[in-house]
Amino acid sequence: MNNQTVVVLDFGGQYNQLIARRVRECGVYCELLPYNTPVEKLKEKNLVGIVLTGGPNSVTEQGAPRLDEKVLQIGVPVLGICYGCQLLAYMHGGSVTGGAREYGKRKLVVGKGGALFKGVPKESTCWMSHSYFVDKVPEDCVVTAGTDTCPTAAYENTQKKYYAVQFHPEVMHTEFGTQVLKNFLFEVCGASGDWTMKNFAEKTIAALKEKIGDKKVLCALSGGVDSAVAATLVHRACKNLICVFVDHGLLRKDEAEEVKRVFKDEQGMNLITVDASEIFLKKLKGVTDPEKKRKIIGREFIRVFEREAKKIGAVDYLVQGTIYPDVIESGLGQSAVIKSHHNVGALPDVIDFEEIVEPLRELFKDEVRACGFEIGLPESIVMRQPFPGPGLAIRIIGEITRDKLEILKDADAIFREEIAKAKLDREIWQYFAALTGSKSVGVMGDERTYFYTLALRGVTSVDGMTADWARIPYDVLETVSNRIVNEVGHINRIVYDITSKPPATIEWE
Ligand code: XMP
Repeated sequence: MNNQTVVVLDFGGQYNQLIARRVRECGVYCELLPYNTPVEKLKEKNLVGIVLTGGPNSVTEQGAPRLDEKVLQIGVPVLGICYGCQLLAYMHGGSVTGGAREYGKRKLVVGKGGALFKGVPKESTCWMSHSYFVDKVPEDCVVTAGTDTCPTAAYENTQKKYYAVQFHPEVMHTEFGTQVLKNFLFEVCGASGDWTMKNFAEKTIAALKEKIGDKKVLCALSGGVDSAVAATLVHRACKNLICVFVDHGLLRKDEAEEVKRVFKDEQGMNLITVDASEIFLKKLKGVTDPEKKRKIIGREFIRVFEREAKKIGAVDYLVQGTIYPDVIESGLGQSAVIKSHHNVGALPDVIDFEEIVEPLRELFKDEVRACGFEIGLPESIVMRQPFPGPGLAIRIIGEITRDKLEILKDADAIFREEIAKAKLDREIWQYFAALTGSKSVGVMGDERTYFYTLALRGVTSVDGMTADWARIPYDVLETVSNRIVNEVGHINRIVYDITSKPPATIEWE
């Protein structure tokens, strides 16, 4: 039997993925689907509840997205949030009006209460983000909570099993938001809460075993968390997995050795390491333009992999570390290309295989990490910070040489070591050193020096789309600075990057 599922129907609001994540954090499997997903498709699932999200439209305007009436007849409870709350009222003869703009934290007063407010105090803070609201609830509904400006902040119809909140229970600023969601999931929908990573790993390995049997499988291992967890799940399920790790020589200090140690020695995988650093450095010689660097590395990566795949011959399956946000986002409009990211997207074109397996298609990033821990991967792999495909090539401004690579690797390793020592490694989303192209004058032991300036960068972020510079304590920065100038040659000046994104980007190139 498939997992008990809550479907979140997407009406275009900004927190929609977050709703799905919150539901899963409560232990209930959840999928985000377009608002107009056919009812038949919804019925195929082991559905226990439906959530309607917020959205930018007004339900009264022509062409606003609507819900198929038949969804309400499926028989599972429905929770409408923000736009979803207004839509449920509109569909049942209530009315919606504009003019009560509320944005940010508001005082929520629980009146009649009801199923969603079990365990929620009479007064608490909620997060609002709307300009329309329900001014008259449908006839057979009960208003359960309100705010100053929005008297119908929540209402319910227990008979027809629909529930609505104008505020956002998924947003952290709603003090008892998780409680409201839990009430919906467990009190109203009667969900069992059996979505755990232990369950997921067991089910996935069993399903992969059945699907793959003794067929041949290939995986491109990068050392990143997604491909690592995907490959390890497949490895647990079959004997014929071959992993190929292309070492382009632009990884951080000791990283290539770690990949070999973890996957070959500890996990016992059949790992082929291709040391291609000579080729990459040769191709990058004299190249200073960041976009050119990316293109060369992307192209060379595919070439090296193709050569390796030819040696292996045809395989039945190709493993990819696709995760749920990739699935949700694929097919959406393209935003302007600021930096052309190199990834393994083009690999399927150069490999002779029958089918792609994507064991992590259902998981959010934090779930991938939890799954990684569940199947026994070490923290260094599971909690690895995001690292760009072109690696240190885009952290050396200007031409890349072996010498510069060594300097940067050593400096970056010291920075990472000190951040870990200060226990900041889980707080800071990404942190690294970049070797700037500028040299400056310094003095060391009475001697004039003319050495490189090294930039340290640390950012907090959720998804890398926007970021703020991390407030690393001065004493940590001081230790890092002292250690780097003393232990690494050719650096006499260290700066800390205090720009957010935008206007800067996270990487320097
Ligand atoms: P930026 O520098 O664009 O970085 O603010 C956002 C996130 O993307 C990573 N990044 C890359 N990842 N190939 C990748 O796979 C690339 O070319 C690339 N450029 C940046 C960056 O490390 C950060 O996490």
